Amino acid sequence: MQKKKMVVRPYGPLMVEHRIIEQIVPLIRAEVRNIDKSKSIDPHFINVTVGFLRTYADKCHHGKEEDILFKALKEKELSKGHFETLRQLLEEHDLARSNVRELLDAKARYVKGDKTAVAEIRKRLLALAKIYPAHIALEDKHFFIEVMKYFSDKEQQKMVRDFWEFDRKMIHEEYREKVSRLKAELQ
Ligand SMILES: [Fe+2]
Ligand SMILES: [Fe+2]
Repeated sequence: MQKKKMVVRPYGPLMVEHRIIEQIVPLIRAEVRNIDKSKSIDPHFINVTVGFLRTYADKCHHGKEEDILFKALKEKELSKGHFETLRQLLEEHDLARSNVRELLDAKARYVKGDKTAVAEIRKRLLALAKIYPAHIALEDKHFFIEVMKYFSDKEQQKMVRDFWEFDRKMIHEEYREKVSRLKAELQ
């Protein structure tokens, strides 16, 4: 019997990444409960969370969505509904980015002794814990699979190859940037 060839669709790798990203949400909620109990912040938690959200959720995951899938969708004649969802998804990426930025600023103020930053940190953590599950559910259940109809099999396979190539380059860019930032700081 001939084995059926497994075809990877573009939404496959993106959904696998969603399964990793969503694991940060209960950790953020637990940290908010710790903040409420202790009225203090664990800067290490914020640093690790911001690192995860910026590198994995934003650069690696949103990067592939925006630079490859969404970019290709913008070339297609989308239905009104899909056009609107695409606009909303992009807005939510920006919202996540601005919350991460504000979270990091508030943490810097807290570390310098500004205890009023606790409320801001709490607010930004809760916002991020709210944005991600809804955003992921919208993409998984109402967008990614539906929009495949705009692409031929060939276009979909090219997209998957572009995803792998994006990931391959990303790790090197990330650390090239990190090492040059560190050099600049030490000079
Ligand atoms: Fe997204
Ligand atoms: Fe996503």
